[in-house]
Amino acid sequence: MFAQVESMTTTNIPLLQQAAVQTVDLTIDAIQPGTAIGPDLFGIFFEDLNWAADGGLYGELIQNRSFEYTSRDGTDVNLLMGWELVQRNGGKGSVAVETEAPLNAVNAHYAVLTVERAGVALCNNGFDGIVVKQGESYNLAFFARVVAGNPGLILVRLESQSGALLGEATFSGLTDDWTQFTASIDAAGTDSNARLVIETSDAGSVGLDVVSLFPQHTFRNRRNGLRNDLAQVIADLEPKFVRFPGGCLAHGDGLDNMYRWKDTIGQVEERKELFNIWGYHQTVGLGYFEYFQFCEDIGAKPLPVVPAGVCCQNSGAFVNGKWGEGQEGLPLSEMPEYVQEVLDLIEWANGPATSTWGAKRAAAGHPEPFHLEYLGVGNEDAQTETFRERFKIIYDAVKAKHPEITVIGTVGPAPDGFDYEEGWKFANELNLEMVDEHGYREPQWFLDNLTHFDAYDRSKSLIYLGEYAAHEPDRANTLLSALAEAAYMTSLERNGDIVRLSSYAPLLGREDHTQWRPDLIYFTGTDILLTANYYVQRLFSINNGDVYLPHSVSLPDGAGVDIEKTFATSCVKNSSSGDIILKLVNVSQNAVQTRVDLSTSGPIETTAACTLLTGDSKAVNSFQNPGLVVPATSNITVGETFVYEAPPYSLTVIRMKMQ
Ligand code: AHR
Repeated sequence: MFAQVESMTTTNIPLLQQAAVQTVDLTIDAIQPGTAIGPDLFGIFFEDLNWAADGGLYGELIQNRSFEYTSRDGTDVNLLMGWELVQRNGGKGSVAVETEAPLNAVNAHYAVLTVERAGVALCNNGFDGIVVKQGESYNLAFFARVVAGNPGLILVRLESQSGALLGEATFSGLTDDWTQFTASIDAAGTDSNARLVIETSDAGSVGLDVVSLFPQHTFRNRRNGLRNDLAQVIADLEPKFVRFPGGCLAHGDGLDNMYRWKDTIGQVEERKELFNIWGYHQTVGLGYFEYFQFCEDIGAKPLPVVPAGVCCQNSGAFVNGKWGEGQEGLPLSEMPEYVQEVLDLIEWANGPATSTWGAKRAAAGHPEPFHLEYLGVGNEDAQTETFRERFKIIYDAVKAKHPEITVIGTVGPAPDGFDYEEGWKFANELNLEMVDEHGYREPQWFLDNLTHFDAYDRSKSLIYLGEYAAHEPDRANTLLSALAEAAYMTSLERNGDIVRLSSYAPLLGREDHTQWRPDLIYFTGTDILLTANYYVQRLFSINNGDVYLPHSVSLPDGAGVDIEKTFATSCVKNSSSGDIILKLVNVSQNAVQTRVDLSTSGPIETTAACTLLTGDSKAVNSFQNPGLVVPATSNITVGETFVYEAPPYSLTVIRMKMQ
């Protein structure tokens, strides 16, 4: 993934930016024991926002497969969204959505294709077109039954928009009862804008539901699995944990929109689909089992977030045109049942296969526990009595039954303000072990607050920095924003004794379907764009340490400009490899000549891997130019003392081996 270069070059840096060089002395104290850094510091936060799940990470290629999209999902959304009726070759017919005798109660709608004269097809265009690749196989599945007449055979084709055939399957055996039909289709061509076409051979009406098409090659070849290329770039981040499913999505737009984990497990046709607070539909095909399985597949710990018995305070915002007043709590009479739902989640994740909920996990193909350690309760909730009362009920019940689970509370949407202050007071009252702090601010805020966590009381709750990102005024993923985050991340390592977890937000954004920018990774049906911010996250994650080595940075003879807010450093030791890893973040237009003194570390190998991420401060990777800001690794010579010149606007990671 990362480009390798023979030697480092600064020729891509504009001349003006190379004008000045600032010299600093960086002295590492490898004799002191250093501060322990938790093993899970760098993780990810996945939320179904920006089409991150359906039409994103979830491998399903059919949009609105169950005909459950409703007008609540958006103003121009309806039960047939994604589908169209095509009449060709003299064909005549119609399509309708019915509810009589559905597949099951939660999947109430289904399509009825009525053919008067053969040549009528129900077509699905996927998510901006179905991506079909020659040589790949696709798993087709659908439920069907005869509604009227004798429709004969069902013919399913993968076609280009021009009608060119890419693959097909034919099914017989339709009856009056719902039956699932499946086939594997080998693609005879490549097309990023294909469609699925369903026809019958004879006149009649056929009911169709849960029409599904998956690439056979999903991530780790899981059934009901994930889009491989997208899952892989997430895996490449080597996240130590995954927080899911939100965010605002977790507590939802109104009480009936809370994300209820039990509705998201089991056969996909039995899951309860619902409105997505971000203004579209969620099938929950990517549900709790798939999230936990993904975590296991990439070696990350699961960090589910359950609502704290209240919905999002921004509920109804689109209706009322105002923000922040929509929080409602579940009636207290319903709290015992809700608390049980949370306790059942822990049993589902960790209980033996013989337990009630562990058995459901086992039935889904995972008899071994998922080893849940962390549980988020609530997200950025407004600190009201309604919230506090319900949070405490849940918290007390979980701690009483499962003291081994780290429950993570919430301290509002910002690193200051009313909810932050009140959230911390509440956390202190309850003596919470960890709280989730969020921070979306302009790049300069991060640089101005590099000591934010230094001042935290070490005796209070540990911190999960669950959502953060440097926001440029135009929300572009500039190198500057990525470096501001990198500088802040050095402070997370320095404060690794109390900041135990962190995750950038949001993770994914489908081009042309974003509700929120910036994101870490953008994608289309075929392409993936990694941002400068992605590379920063990856460089910290793969170069993590378990001990922070104290070090000082000073200006020789006090000469030069103040670099406190433009030059951030961290030095960690990774005990399993024995490596010492130095990170230098230069957020200025001047190069920083860094005179490193490592004489207390003991003998180190003279060749070290040096990875550099640099460019114009305003540079932004794009689908047209995805390689504008990418890291490059080369070997440099190091020793007890050595000099390294950190280029303007750069993150450098120097990984040194002990002899
Ligand atoms: O990350 C996007 C949103 O930002 C999350 O859903 C919410 O928690 C925060 O306000």
